[in-house]
Amino acid sequence: MSKANTVSTIKQMVSDGEKFTMLTAYDATFASIFSTQGIETLLVGDSLGMVFQGQDSTLPVTVDDMIYHTRAVARGNKGSLLVADMPFNSYGTVEQALATAGKLMQAGAHMVKLEGGAWLCDAVKAMSQAGIPTCLHLGLTPQSVNKFGGYKVQGRDEAAAQKMINDALALAEAGADFILLECVPSDLAKALTETVPVPVIGIGAGAATDGQVLVCYDMLGLTQHRLPRFVKNYMSEANTWEQAVNSFKTDVKSGNFPAAEHTFE
Ligand code: KIV
Repeated sequence: MSKANTVSTIKQMVSDGEKFTMLTAYDATFASIFSTQGIETLLVGDSLGMVFQGQDSTLPVTVDDMIYHTRAVARGNKGSLLVADMPFNSYGTVEQALATAGKLMQAGAHMVKLEGGAWLCDAVKAMSQAGIPTCLHLGLTPQSVNKFGGYKVQGRDEAAAQKMINDALALAEAGADFILLECVPSDLAKALTETVPVPVIGIGAGAATDGQVLVCYDMLGLTQHRLPRFVKNYMSEANTWEQAVNSFKTDVKSGNFPAAEHTFE
């Protein structure tokens, strides 16, 4: 990768109409492969609780776990924008959010990701003022699995869809740099992407978002359980990890991924 990716280079790509890619990474080797293949953004996702630690959900992941993995990914990274998840119960107040985000930035993150809507505006504003870029995760937010009663598509009814758009607008106004949408109907993701003035990344949100993210263990065919509908196993058509990552990148840029079979209506 010739030039480092930053919040501004990604925003420029989006305004130029180019789609961008994100993969989760939890260690230096994966980070090095993905960034060398030109994946613009890496996510140290709290999904590591499930795929790396073998937990039932992301809730047991701690700030110390995230610091450990963020440091490892930062060591292997070769120019991708590094986003680190703020884990469950680490950003309930503005003060707590600032403290957690500060630790992750000091571990090597360039941006932090939090799950939730307009209730996070004060925290987002404070982080933005402190020089900390933020990505706000809406839709199926896995840290709220106990409120949702399972991992279900969100925003199917009119009121929930409108609330998601209002939340995204309020968060962007408060200083959020990116929005991430997980498991929402493709029409809602399209409307939200067209309405909100910051880059929108999708997973299970259809092809109209500005960027696409997948969990690396899923797209590399390593995951041991049945893959969710929105995942494509790129290893099934590749001989090496590098080829698989490259096909993902090419498919996202050309609009071939996600296809209709990966999308919720
Ligand atoms: O933790 C994670 O890996 C995520 C992605 C599913 C977007 O939040």
